[in-house]
Amino acid sequence: MSKIIIFLGPPGAGKGTQAQLLKERNGFIQVSTGDLLREAVKNQTELGKLAKKYMDEGKLVPDDLIISLIKEKLQEYADKNIIFDGFPRTIPQAESLDNLLFQLDKNIDAVILFKIEDEEVVKRLAGRRVCPSCGAVYHVIYNPPKIDEICDKCGTKLIQRDDDKEEVIRKRLEVYHQQTKPLIEYYKSKIVEIDATDNPENIYNKIVSMI
Ligand code: AP5
Repeated sequence: MSKIIIFLGPPGAGKGTQAQLLKERNGFIQVSTGDLLREAVKNQTELGKLAKKYMDEGKLVPDDLIISLIKEKLQEYADKNIIFDGFPRTIPQAESLDNLLFQLDKNIDAVILFKIEDEEVVKRLAGRRVCPSCGAVYHVIYNPPKIDEICDKCGTKLIQRDDDKEEVIRKRLEVYHQQTKPLIEYYKSKIVEIDATDNPENIYNKIVSMI
């Protein structure tokens, strides 16, 4: 039976970093709504055009757009082990996911809650660099690439995300506390907490032992 894992936590908690490790080492499919939306923005699709203004302001993209994206991905990866990275982010998104999984006779196996303070998030995101080509994530101090500003995996020049400016980061944190945190109560029977300030390898080992 395939596994469905949800990564829940504030921006910059390390959800994407861990999802990539589980993808590379354990063959999970990483479904990151943030990555899917950035891809749509880059390709200037209808979804991308609608989503861009919300993302630039650090607000959530409307639920109906996100739910149709997820529906597509669940059909595409029906038999795979999936990590939802950054989804669901609202109660209506979580209810829709439950309905979609019910139709497919599937269940959520675990919800991993990444715990970290807001000020640490601000520090992390200000130093984050990402590869626009393969999506690898770095940090100028905590996880620098071997060659300055160049992706270790594919050699592309790294960039800073548009929404990693301090005022947008603070807005994203506010949105997390208001709209996403209620999911902790929603998923209380499935939540396992992780100290997201630990080093990435320790976090990875803990997650593997939990799932
Ligand atoms: P999204 O892309 O999902 O952003 P996010 O949730 O804000 O999360 P981040 O990608 O910022 O952080 P992360 O937890 O993945 O951390 P990372 O591993 O990169 O969403 C962007 C936007 O899209 C949203 O604002 C919204 O507009 C829209 N959106 C997306 N999904 C949506 C949805 N479901 N509904 C509505 N709208 C949606 O790590 C961060 C940094 O820390 C990196 O530099 C990394 O190298 C470093 N780091 C990682 N782990 C560690 C560690 N253990 N120790 C030290 N440094 C570490």
